[in-house]
Amino acid sequence: MTTTGGLFISFEGIDGAGKSTHIEGLAQAFRAQGRAVTLTREPGGTPLAEKLRSVVLNDTMDAMTEALLVFAARRDHLQQLIEPALARGDVVLCDRFTDATFAYQGGGRGFDLSILSILEQWVQTVRGLEADFIREPDLTVWFDLPAEIAAQRLAGARTPDKFEAQPVEFFKSVSDGYLKRMLASPSRFVRIQADNTRDAVWLDVLTAVQGRGWLP
Ligand code: TMP
Repeated sequence: MTTTGGLFISFEGIDGAGKSTHIEGLAQAFRAQGRAVTLTREPGGTPLAEKLRSVVLNDTMDAMTEALLVFAARRDHLQQLIEPALARGDVVLCDRFTDATFAYQGGGRGFDLSILSILEQWVQTVRGLEADFIREPDLTVWFDLPAEIAAQRLAGARTPDKFEAQPVEFFKSVSDGYLKRMLASPSRFVRIQADNTRDAVWLDVLTAVQGRGWLP
């Protein structure tokens, strides 16, 4: 939990991992405890960041342009929505955050991770009362799903966007990117086997949040 009492939880995984229903379930569980919940997503969450999302998801560009655009969207999202919500004491549930950039642009596209780290520091530095710090989620729930199963789930679903249309190999690299991020910050992450039944996955999500004392 942040010093202000706000709580920041992000949800990650390759396309098709099935995050959405569980994010909604957690929002209901927190609201049932009387907590104010801000539900949001990346890229997106503000009018400007949603415009950038549409460009990133639909236009062809190189990996650096993609990385700069998702971080520009993130900056606006943090300034306009996330930081004010945390300052009010909200629970912020964010469908994807910076780990997605390390996984997709870093792992999937092969873009330089050290440049992503620099951008992360620039964009996410927050002025604290005593010292500046880098805003990170308090918890990241990684829905880990084998790329082959995700591909089966996505086949026949709605028209794929630029990322959903990528081959299985791309998503294997994205998963490797998530794994690296988890290994670098193991206490921030919980890794959930997303190929279990929906009920089993939900129980794992709930247990992770309860285990940190944030829900009864
Ligand atoms: P989604 O919100 O439907 O999951 O779609 C967002 C897509 O954008 C998804 O394919 C992952 C991708 N993405 C990136 O490539 N980099 C990022 O930093 C973020 C947040 C998402």
